[in-house]
Amino acid sequence: ERVLVLAGGLSHERDVSLRSGRRVAEALRDRGFEVEVRDVDSTLLASLRDDPPACVLPLLHGATGEDGAIREVLELAGIPYVGSGPAACRVAFDKPVAKTVVAAAGLATPECVVLPHETFRELGAAAVMEAMAERLGLPLIVKPARGGSALGCTVVRSVADLPSAMIDAFAYGDVALVERFVQGEEVAVGVYDDGDGPRALPVVGIVPDGGVYDYTARYTAGSTEFTVPARLSEELTAACADVALRAHEALGLRDLSRTDLIVDAEGTVWFLEVNVAPGMTETSIVPLAVEASDVELGELFGRLVRAAAS
Ligand code: DAL
Ligand code: MG
Repeated sequence: ERVLVLAGGLSHERDVSLRSGRRVAEALRDRGFEVEVRDVDSTLLASLRDDPPACVLPLLHGATGEDGAIREVLELAGIPYVGSGPAACRVAFDKPVAKTVVAAAGLATPECVVLPHETFRELGAAAVMEAMAERLGLPLIVKPARGGSALGCTVVRSVADLPSAMIDAFAYGDVALVERFVQGEEVAVGVYDDGDGPRALPVVGIVPDGGVYDYTARYTAGSTEFTVPARLSEELTAACADVALRAHEALGLRDLSRTDLIVDAEGTVWFLEVNVAPGMTETSIVPLAVEASDVELGELFGRLVRAAAS
C-alpha cells in the first residue's frame, strides 16, 4: 500500500514544503510504509487515476496547498487523503475569514482591518496610515491575508513604517490584514485526530533570537528557542490547548492542524491563525511537539494515514 506525499507546489513556501515532504516521507519509511514523494503539476489528476495510491498526504504549504485547491482534485479523484477538506481549508487559509469564524465561536483574536490593494491605492498611503493608527493604535502587524511562513509580515511601531509594510504584504497578494500587535508569549499548538477525536499536542513556546519569528527565524536551525512545554502556568497551558481545539472544531478542520497564539500579560489567549498543512521541517513546531509527546512523527503520520485510508 503506497502513500503519496505531495510536496513542493508553486507557492512562496515551495522550499519549506519540499523539506516537510522529505522529513515525513523518511519518518513513514522508517515505519515500513511504501512512500512516494511527488510535486504537483498538470499530470497529477491523470496519474492519480492511472495509479491510485492508498492515501495521499498533502504537505503543500501556502496558496494552492492550503487553500483547498489540491484537496478538491483529490476529492475529484476519489483518493483518501490526510487533512481537512477543501471548503474548510479555504476558510482557514484566509486569515481575516478564519478570525471572523473563531471570534463567532467565542475566541479572542486581535482587532484588525482588511485592506484590499485597490482601496490602499484609491485612498492613498497617508489617509490609510492615519485611519489604521487611529482605529487600531500602535504597534500593528501587517500580513498578507492569505500566506504563510511570515512572508510579507511586518511589525509596525511607527506610522511612518506603515506604507512600506503594506507594500511588502501586497507583494504576496491583493489583500492585506492590518492587525493590532499583541505583546506576549508566542505559542503554537498542534491538534491531531487519528480516529479517537481531536487531541492537542504539547504547547510549544517560541522565542526567536532576534525577537521576531520571521522566515529566517523559522527555518534556520538554532535561531529560535523552542520550549516544550511552553513556560506557562498549568492553567494557561490548558487554555492554549483548549483554544487550539476550539479553533480546529469551529473551522471544521480534520486530522491535523496547528494554531498560532499569543498569550498576553493579562492571561488572554489570542488566536492569530491556523495552519491546515503545518510545517514539518527540522525546525518546525509540530514535529517538535510530537517528539515531546508519547508518539513519534512516523507513528503519528502512520496512524493518520491508516485512519484516512480506512
Ligand atoms: N506555513 C508554515 C509551513 C507553517 O505554518 O509551518
Ligand atoms: Mg501560517
